[in-house]
Amino acid sequence: MAINDIFLEEIRDRNDIEDIVSSYVNLKRQGKILKGLCPFHNEKTPSFTVYPDTKSFYCFGCGAGGEVITFIRRIENLDFVEAVRFLAERSGLQMPEDGYDDSVAKHRKRLYAANREAARFYYSCLVSQGGKAGLDYLLGRGLTMSTIRHFGMGFAPDSWDSLIKHMNSKGFTNAELYDANLVKRSERNNKLTYYDNFRNRVMTPIIDLRGNVIGFGGRVLDDSKPKYVNTSDTLIYKKTNNVFALNFAKNGNPDSMIVCEGYMDVIALHQAGFTNAVASLGTALTREQAGLISRYTSEVILSYYADEAGQEATQKAIRLFDETGVRLRVLKLEGGKDPDEIIKKYGKERFRSLIDGAANDIEYNILKIRNKFDLKSSDGKVNFLSETAKLLAGCSQIEQDVYASRLANELGVSKDAITGEIRRQYARRRSGENKRRFEDIKRFAVSPKDEINPQRRDNVRAARAEDILLSLILNNPEFYNKIKDNISADIFATDFNRRVFEIISQRLENNESIELTFISSLFTPEETGRLAKFIAMRNEISNTVEECNDCINVLRQEHDKKNENNPADMSDEEFLKHFRKKSEVK
Ligand code: UTP
Ligand code: MN
Repeated sequence: MAINDIFLEEIRDRNDIEDIVSSYVNLKRQGKILKGLCPFHNEKTPSFTVYPDTKSFYCFGCGAGGEVITFIRRIENLDFVEAVRFLAERSGLQMPEDGYDDSVAKHRKRLYAANREAARFYYSCLVSQGGKAGLDYLLGRGLTMSTIRHFGMGFAPDSWDSLIKHMNSKGFTNAELYDANLVKRSERNNKLTYYDNFRNRVMTPIIDLRGNVIGFGGRVLDDSKPKYVNTSDTLIYKKTNNVFALNFAKNGNPDSMIVCEGYMDVIALHQAGFTNAVASLGTALTREQAGLISRYTSEVILSYYADEAGQEATQKAIRLFDETGVRLRVLKLEGGKDPDEIIKKYGKERFRSLIDGAANDIEYNILKIRNKFDLKSSDGKVNFLSETAKLLAGCSQIEQDVYASRLANELGVSKDAITGEIRRQYARRRSGENKRRFEDIKRFAVSPKDEINPQRRDNVRAARAEDILLSLILNNPEFYNKIKDNISADIFATDFNRRVFEIISQRLENNESIELTFISSLFTPEETGRLAKFIAMRNEISNTVEECNDCINVLRQEHDKKNENNPADMSDEEFLKHFRKKSEVK
């Protein structure tokens, strides 16, 4: 059972795709379409397109696409029914009473509720007698009660079942607690036993952008290992897609955000007034996190530890933020290993001055190269300059000019010599890039990777005809009746396209609409992207019935070619069938 078409139609009509997408993406009109930077992958030039006339969107960069419900599914990370409910609430519509499966939505709600209740429990433990060790630890690290309350910090008692008992008394089942990763389980003598995941740790809740508690980081009170236990991924929490404290940092639209490594750094920074600090969650920064942060600010200040691991993390973060187009600066943590320590030792003014003096990413990388060479020797100077030229070869003209002047002054070398070297490195880089591009093309020609339709790889010609045929039907449903006697699903070579054909032909047989709105619930959001591509392809096709028949002929040829392969291997029955089919075609 599914949500009925009449309701979906109402959702579609009351939630204009241009309006909805605009509240997440900055769109610019270009004639009949709108373009913007894709929210589903990091890019600097817009390939994300909204088509108001077909009420669809498609990104030529990453293949995301669909209609308004699919957009909400992806951007809010909801399942189909939840996305419909989201749009229904937004537009003042009452959800139908039944007819759809909202078990995922219900389960998700329970997990939010469980996390919130657990956070409440941990806080109450922290401020009660039993939590003294935890509270002493946090106060000992210089946190104020107000900071502790602001972040909702708490204490998990040194016990195997205190959370379980509390949560059971509030009506949460062990299975729900397990799905929220608040408890773990073990099996002994065929009996499942559950136990608290977090024990004897100070707890920091992880809160999403809507204010839901979605997980925790729990730190030991001493030097034992592991230092942190973190919530692992659940239905409501993906650590690679969330950013710690972004819920606070995004308020007030800060011009810049400070990205650090540790929870404790972020908390100390917020307490010191740097409420624009965030951190990744128990992992190195991911592409998704960089994308998310760049949506809320235009400048990022990297503030990683001064040790080797921290510097490696800095390089990775520079690469990831580079893809997003935010401005980037790198803090040089002098006099302390991390922001927390610097603030504690020297005060917040010192940290402020570090921020003000932070180098941009080019300066930072030049500094790093400089540290490798002895600039007093002419050898060192030459090597330093040639490596720096390599770096600058990847920068803009203006940047090249500015840094060439600076280096010339500083090292007493002529500016022309430096720009000459940059140009040489640039040429080398280009020829390397061309070679790589050629190799990409070759690889693409040999094995076009297609995750939605993996069989395309071995059926390139047929799959191309299928794509065009599906594009023709999706854009011109009235063609279906004119061609339906010429085609059946079994001449499709690829499973994905065959499934699309079966679904739309079934609906057309029933005189139902095949607009994306009504069929996207039958596909994953990624698959819906492919359907949106078929729709977006309508400018590349001739939109005639003849073209449909051309495609069908290609499919028949390819189908026969395949079946012809080995008549000798066929049973008599298969052979007869094959023979009959062949004579039918003409
Ligand atoms: P840190 O060890 O620097 O932690 O690791 P911290 O939060 O700054 O704590 P203090 O100041 O040393 O007490 C940085 C981040 O790496 C992740 C956590 O997200 C932590 O905040 N981490 C670290 C883990 O997930 N597990 C660990 O065992 C250690
Ligand atoms: Mn730390």
